[in-house]
Order: sequence, then structure tokens, then C-alpha cells
Amino acid sequence: MANTAPQLTPQQIVQYHINGYIALDALTTPEEVAIMREIYDDLFERRVGREEGMQFDLGGSDEEGIKAKLPQILQPSRYAPQLKELQVYANAQAVAQQLLGPDARQTGDHAINKPPLDGAETPWHQDEAYWDPKQLYESMSIWIPLQDVTVENGCMQFIPGSHRLDIVEHQSIGGDVRVHGLEVCDPKVDVSQAVACPLPAGGCTIHSNRTLHYAGPNKTATPRRALILMAGLPSKPYPAPRRFPWNEAKRTARDQRALATADKN
Ligand code: NI
Repeated sequence: MANTAPQLTPQQIVQYHINGYIALDALTTPEEVAIMREIYDDLFERRVGREEGMQFDLGGSDEEGIKAKLPQILQPSRYAPQLKELQVYANAQAVAQQLLGPDARQTGDHAINKPPLDGAETPWHQDEAYWDPKQLYESMSIWIPLQDVTVENGCMQFIPGSHRLDIVEHQSIGGDVRVHGLEVCDPKVDVSQAVACPLPAGGCTIHSNRTLHYAGPNKTATPRRALILMAGLPSKPYPAPRRFPWNEAKRTARDQRALATADKN
């Protein structure tokens, strides 16, 4: 099967702008998914980026010697540059340009590897809540599962239309400031309208920087691997003073490691 960028239909583009997300059955081929999985598993096995705070537990206190609830790697393509040579990166950029115009560019990648038979969910959040509040964003996350995903192993779920909200109130997961991961704590958010998006391996969901999303715990016996490619228009200065106090409150082991590594250099 040829590996070229999907051509979105006008309906899909409208759907993205109305709902704040879409799902595509194929962003890349099974052959390429097999290559991605091999690179992906190797990065987690070798714990790349651990020392400088780029690999950590998104869902827990991230202490050494304790099994991570939600192992995450920021910028995996920095540790495996061959990832960027894969067609899936070019396809993601082409899709981003179909949604946001020719100025859309890839802005980074990350990986969340949900362990088997583990109770950790990825709680409801908006991605922008993690970022610099001084910037205004128009961007998307292209979430690519490296095996089939269902509700049972933690496929993505979205609240349609939630991308039109402002950034709602967040906190560290469980209110524990040692945890990097965020969760919505705004009582106005109604998650009863959530839509789950099961997908085949190598498909993707695409959601905007403000779309509320969630992934349930992985109740199956195999890991739930997802590679997330970020793309968007260049950010601009936010037009008003803005703060995200939930990020200022964090005291994570990850940040400590990053600081200690920076001091050494
Ligand atoms: Ni997210």
C-alpha cells in the first residue's frame, strides 16, 4: 500500500472546526507502524531522557525505583532522529496544513506508553493548560496508536465543541503537586457528552489545543503505545496578562532532574 498523506474531505475539515477533533483510520501503513513500534519500545527500554527530565511518570510522583503509572517521553525524535525520516511525520504535516493552512508546521512530538493491566487513566485536560500562558496558540495534537485501540486499552475520548471554551481550571492529578500530569478541576465541565474514538494501529485522532480529552486505563495485557505529533501555526503573544497557577504550583522530580542536568552543563 502506498504511503501518502490522507486527503481530508471538506466534511472532515468542517467537522474538525465544529467539534475540535476528528479521527482518521490511516495516517500511515502497517509496515511503518512496525518500524515505529521497534524504535518506540527501544526508547522506553533504554530510558532515554530520564536524567534530563525528558522521560518521566506523567501520572505519578516519578520517584526512582517506583513503577511509572504513565511513562512519557518528550521529544522522542531527539533521541531517535530516524523517526523524522518516516512518512508518518510528512503525512502529519500535510494533514495539519489541510486543517490550518500552509503555514502550519510540526512543533514537536511525545510518547505515552500505558502499561498493561494498570489502573491509571489520563484524566480530562486541555493540552494548552501545560504550555506557556504568555503565548496564543492555534495548534493540534495528532495522536497515533501503534496497536489497535479501544475503550478497554485506553483510546482517546473527546467532548465535542469543548475547543471553544477558554482554558478551564486545572490542577496536578489528584491535587498532588509532585505529579506533572494535569486534570480538569472545574465543576462547570460536563464529561457526560464524551465520545470515544476506537482506531486501528496507524490511524490517528487530531484534536486542537483547547479540546477536552481523556483516555481510560489500559485494562488489557499488552502496552498501549501512542506517539503524538504536534503541529500548528506559529504562536503569538497572548493579548492579555494570563497565568496558569497549576503549573507554577508543581514541584516535580522531573524538573529537579532537568535543573540538576542543566547545572552540570
Ligand atoms: Ni493531552
